[in-house]
Amino acid sequence: MKIAFFSAQKYEQSFFIAHNSAEHQLLFFSERLTELSAKLAQGCDAVCAFVNDDLSESVLQSLLKLNIKLVTLRCAGFNNVDLIAAKNLGINITRVPAYSPEAVAEHCIALMLTLSRKTHKAYNRVKEGNFDLNGLLGFNLHKKTVGVIGTGKIGLALCNILTGFGCRILAHDPKPSSDRLNYVSLEALLAESDIISLHCPLLPATHHMINDDAYQQMKPGVMLINTSRGALVDTKATIKALKNKTLGYLGLDVYEQESELFFKDMSNEIIQDDEFQRLLSFSNVLITGHQGFFTQEALDEIATVTFFNIKQFAEQRVLTNTVV
Ligand code: NAI
Repeated sequence: MKIAFFSAQKYEQSFFIAHNSAEHQLLFFSERLTELSAKLAQGCDAVCAFVNDDLSESVLQSLLKLNIKLVTLRCAGFNNVDLIAAKNLGINITRVPAYSPEAVAEHCIALMLTLSRKTHKAYNRVKEGNFDLNGLLGFNLHKKTVGVIGTGKIGLALCNILTGFGCRILAHDPKPSSDRLNYVSLEALLAESDIISLHCPLLPATHHMINDDAYQQMKPGVMLINTSRGALVDTKATIKALKNKTLGYLGLDVYEQESELFFKDMSNEIIQDDEFQRLLSFSNVLITGHQGFFTQEALDEIATVTFFNIKQFAEQRVLTNTVV
């Protein structure tokens, strides 16, 4: 098959090339998939898309005109896909449901520990020969209450790690997945947690679930970690909560408007997103550019499962990892 990869980055191409045992023809395009760029897939049999590619109805229609019947997502989340349109158009959508929940869970811990122990500041200070500890006072994770919203694969992996730290874990999920966790209402979790970590998908019901009202229910000085999807968090309300010190620490790996920024070098550009720039200006905010998944193990798994999805489609078998 001939497969068009959109939003393709150099770092992932070697993994796909190494796992391409069926010798498919792979075309890597750095362009994000949009209505305009869809025509690059002309002559291809399938499209491989990533988190910020546009899979709205109009783009899916453009792909169908090119006779493309498979969009294989090389990610777990599929909030960027118009599932109803895909179904109506007869386009199959597959994904990689779990490439490494531990990779994302460990990244959460990296954000938590960096924020709590200020190692990012210590690194810069020590490089400059400044060994002053003033301003670096941290806090223990041990015995802290951590609220985990969404206890699917990543949420559970995080709970396992936090158990080792000696944290008290409160979980919230409409579909509890573990009888060893203490499930509570969202209100109780928001009110009691010292640290809150988001691990639910972006759905109409979860859009801006962390808003003004949620911040009002939280403990002053709480830490919020979002490695799930940017739009779970209302950015305007977050800036307000940082300014009034409700939010004591913020760790983000995802951002509501990240498609304009992430996965590219913007260091020579003028960033136009004022809310993003305001977030960066706070000393207690740490942002990474959607790299939670980014480990060697996860990229191996992404390439393996993507080719498995393509093989099933080519052989007209039931698609195990279908979302439509
Ligand atoms: P999963 O599908 O295994 O778990 C999601 C859980 O959220 C489920 O248990 C579900 O019942 C729960 N949920 C649904 N609605 C909820 C609500 N209103 N409140 C609380 N919980 C709710 O998904 P997985 O693999 O754990 O991934 C979670 C999210 O992490 C994905 O949706 C994706 O957006 C994000 N992700 C981020 C990555 C990164 O690199 N930063 C990489 C992979 C995934």
